[in-house]
Amino acid sequence: MGWGGWVRGVEIEPSLYAADLARLGEEIGRQLDAGARVFHFDVGDGHFVEPITVGPIVLEAIAPLVHDRGGRLDCHLMVENPARHIPQIARAGGDSVTFHVEVGDTPALVALAREQGLGAGLAFNPGTAAAEAARAADGVDLVLCMSIWPGYSGQAFMPEALDRVREVRGLLPGRVRVQVDGGVGPDNVAALREAGADLLVAGSAIFAADDPGVAYRRLAAAVAP
Ligand code: DX5
Ligand code: ZN
Repeated sequence: MGWGGWVRGVEIEPSLYAADLARLGEEIGRQLDAGARVFHFDVGDGHFVEPITVGPIVLEAIAPLVHDRGGRLDCHLMVENPARHIPQIARAGGDSVTFHVEVGDTPALVALAREQGLGAGLAFNPGTAAAEAARAADGVDLVLCMSIWPGYSGQAFMPEALDRVREVRGLLPGRVRVQVDGGVGPDNVAALREAGADLLVAGSAIFAADDPGVAYRRLAAAVAP
């Protein structure tokens, strides 16, 4: 399934990597209460990125909590060999997979995602040209512009990402969503929206706040049409 059927015009996507993992179910429930619908789930393999993060076992545990309330799980695969993981992500209840243009083989990965009934996204790192990502984006639902080097939550936003979002938005057909991930928060979310991002991933800006529900609502209000 592509994103067309379930995504709203603009989404703030809570990045569960930054949540209190000892209380993950509760954190998800509070974000759903606050109005979140699409959750960002970061899979890191210890190769493409330094840390091993979370994977299908955790995804499987949370998928019913999210799906029963109409939510969706957008899985960001920070991995060297996405083909190895995509079927497991599908079985565990993922709704969409985003792999990196830097690992290559994009057309085959898009085909595999579709075969598995998943949405498909293509991410590009700060060191990769927006034009390279746009050229490779055939058949995807979204292109993810990284505004940090992937790996960890809580890093500072790289300001040049604003121009990169604008550039990639201009190169892509309108039906392809532009997502941004890394250091997104109250100081830059409106500018990113203006630059053309419609899927805004926020980890620590939500989960490190005193009240993560309020933090979600504030970000959502800042990008509301
Ligand atoms: C890290 C992940 C991000 C991360 C974002 O590489 O891809 O999704 O959780 O966290 P913040 O919003 O804190 O930068
Ligand atoms: Zn991510």
